[in-house]
Amino acid sequence: LRLFSGSANVPLSQEVARYLGMDLGPMVRKRFADGELYIQIQESIRGCDVYLIQPTCQPVNDHLMELLIMVDACRRASARQITAVIPYYGYARADRKTAGRESITAKLVANLITEAGASRILAMDLHSAQIQGYFDIPFDHVYGSPVLIDYLANKQLSDLVVVSPDVGGVARARAFAKKLNDAPLAIIDKRRQAHNVAEVMNLIGDVEGKTAVLVDDMIDTGGTISEGARLLRQEGARQVYACATHAVFSPPAIDRLSSGVFEEVIVTNTIPVPERDRFQQLTVLSVANVIGETI
Ligand code: R5P
Repeated sequence: LRLFSGSANVPLSQEVARYLGMDLGPMVRKRFADGELYIQIQESIRGCDVYLIQPTCQPVNDHLMELLIMVDACRRASARQITAVIPYYGYARADRKTAGRESITAKLVANLITEAGASRILAMDLHSAQIQGYFDIPFDHVYGSPVLIDYLANKQLSDLVVVSPDVGGVARARAFAKKLNDAPLAIIDKRRQAHNVAEVMNLIGDVEGKTAVLVDDMIDTGGTISEGARLLRQEGARQVYACATHAVFSPPAIDRLSSGVFEEVIVTNTIPVPERDRFQQLTVLSVANVIGETI
């Protein structure tokens, strides 16, 4: 078994390596003057089971291309099995056509990774679980929720209500609520007018006097979760927590999250969190053990 890291989240790869009691394999990564990328694996991997850790987070296209080049290099070096470990799968939200003449980019990405030579995928909290079906190779889909739930359970918060920030996230929030002593569920009916612009309309459920925990797969610009939190406060929630596996945190996420509406925002380290020190109520939990155990 050999483990290599792309450049997208080296600290997470190092933690996974530590968990497995091994070192990351040597790899040269260079950029040419024109921006093209060069990668060379610096030890023999002939006949080996190779794991390549690379979340396809921002800059998404660069990190995706880097992953493809790593997979191709391993295939051409006669690795026996190549597992692409993708803690965050970029383009996952482009998982279907919602209008004519659009791409299903999540499927295109699956084709590219398979075509490059991956023989197995390990991904965490896909935006939609159906993306597994875009691959015809073995796929392990793992979750950050045990780590988030353990952390919340240890806080022993009383009068909890778990809230889905949109209708699409109800199954995720329901599973979360079940693990938190069958806490009640509330749902925000969100209407989106444009990409990355969230508009909150209605709350289904009761949050009055309760500690509300918003659960989402990712926080990108922070619009969904902070609009949701404001609505929950208006509806009488005593405290609002937010939990998400992927801290995409595109600007102005940190500004939105630090507006004072959240007691705490809890995310994981599938993506390196930029400007982490600017937001004191942020907790970043590690999923290295979940990935290490699955490997
Ligand atoms: C949407 O369906 C996702 O689950 C997230 O709610 C969304 O992508 C978060 O984006 P933002 O933080 O930009 O509102």
